[in-house]
Amino acid sequence: MTDPATPAAVTIVDHPLVQHKLTIMRKRETSTAGFRRLLREISQFLAYEATRGLPLTLTRIETPLCEMDAPMIEGKKLVLVSILRAGNGLLDGILELVPGARVGFVGLYRDPETLKPVQYYYKVPDELEDRMVIVVDPMLATGNSSVAAVDLLKASGARNIRFMCLLAAPEGIKRMQEAHPDVPIVTAAVDDHLNDHGYIVPGLGDAGDRMFGTK
Ligand code: URA
Repeated sequence: MTDPATPAAVTIVDHPLVQHKLTIMRKRETSTAGFRRLLREISQFLAYEATRGLPLTLTRIETPLCEMDAPMIEGKKLVLVSILRAGNGLLDGILELVPGARVGFVGLYRDPETLKPVQYYYKVPDELEDRMVIVVDPMLATGNSSVAAVDLLKASGARNIRFMCLLAAPEGIKRMQEAHPDVPIVTAAVDDHLNDHGYIVPGLGDAGDRMFGTK
């Protein structure tokens, strides 16, 4: 049990490959196809950190030389929950690494006036209490959607939740840590601030628009 006074860790994946790819994603001129490919690539580096601590079970196998008990992860013990729609840009890359993972979706959009999340879809696997849940959304901005998604998952029984994003704003991290101090955050960078429209600065713009070409 995490001490509420000490929020779970924020891990910044500062590996040069991640930082280089992120810089290309930030550039205004990067194409939709390039943005999507880079997001998929970075998602795998982020997932490497976010899945740290996934339980391993020893399985009897035979190498060319002898038998041994070797560690394996149980993919179905992992649930990836995408906050629609931009979260989907992180999903496929992680599923390549853990093909057996279960997948849930939370549909939330930001009311442009209040910046508060409005729920329109919620579908997650059952028995969440027995699984590690990684919530994915590229942008941790105000934190309102992320907090709302984690609220819903906890109400469904999830107890072991992690949050994975590409970029975070200090405001979003603070909000998440206040609401859910037990949820570790994995991100590629923490940017400077949010602007009046709730966009991360310097950021990369609207992640959904950039990955799907809707602008
Ligand atoms: N969502 C985005 O897509 N970009 C931001 O900068 C903030 C929220």
